[in-house]
Amino acid sequence: MRRLAILLSGRGSNFEAIADAVEAGAIPDAGIVAVVSDVPDARGLARAKERGLPAFAVDRRGFSTRADHEAAILRILGEARPDLVCLAGYMRILSPDFVTRWRGRLLNIHPSLLPRYAGTKPQLRALEAGDEVSGCTVHIVDEGTDTGPIVLQKRVRIEPGDTEESLSNRILEKEHEAYPEAIARMLAKLPIES
Ligand code: GRF
Repeated sequence: MRRLAILLSGRGSNFEAIADAVEAGAIPDAGIVAVVSDVPDARGLARAKERGLPAFAVDRRGFSTRADHEAAILRILGEARPDLVCLAGYMRILSPDFVTRWRGRLLNIHPSLLPRYAGTKPQLRALEAGDEVSGCTVHIVDEGTDTGPIVLQKRVRIEPGDTEESLSNRILEKEHEAYPEAIARMLAKLPIES
């Protein structure tokens, strides 16, 4: 079985889309071995527990440094031995050490067509720029913010009258298709580790 870990901080709709795809066999021969949240009452973490998945709260407030907090997460990942670590609405910047440890096996999803609008509020920035097209990007995480190699993008047309909310919702629907697809693609390419 190919092993997936998810890091999240909130709603967890991308996590649920991934979990649904795993259950449906759309990500072949895969399982979720850990769901980790830095926010103990994140909805995504509650949903992981409801699904009977291994769910871990690693509250940032319980650690005096980022390094200690990340070390706790790295210990969980070390035991879970995932093939891929998927950031799904994880709201903290990971240190270069963390990225190095999981280099090439750490994915993120971002609601814009990168390299446009890396960072915060990408949907609003696309609207304000008068763009006609937006979308989402799944990419491999490197040391930058939303800068790593792109695995897959899906486009969404911006309609007249779109608001930040309406556009975000339509992009999110595409995210839920894109993330499982990107994971399946990555797993097909990764060597199987014993
Ligand atoms: C998504 O828009 C994702 O692209 C961004 O954070 C949001 C997370 O949503 N990185 P959810 O928690 O997966 O519902």
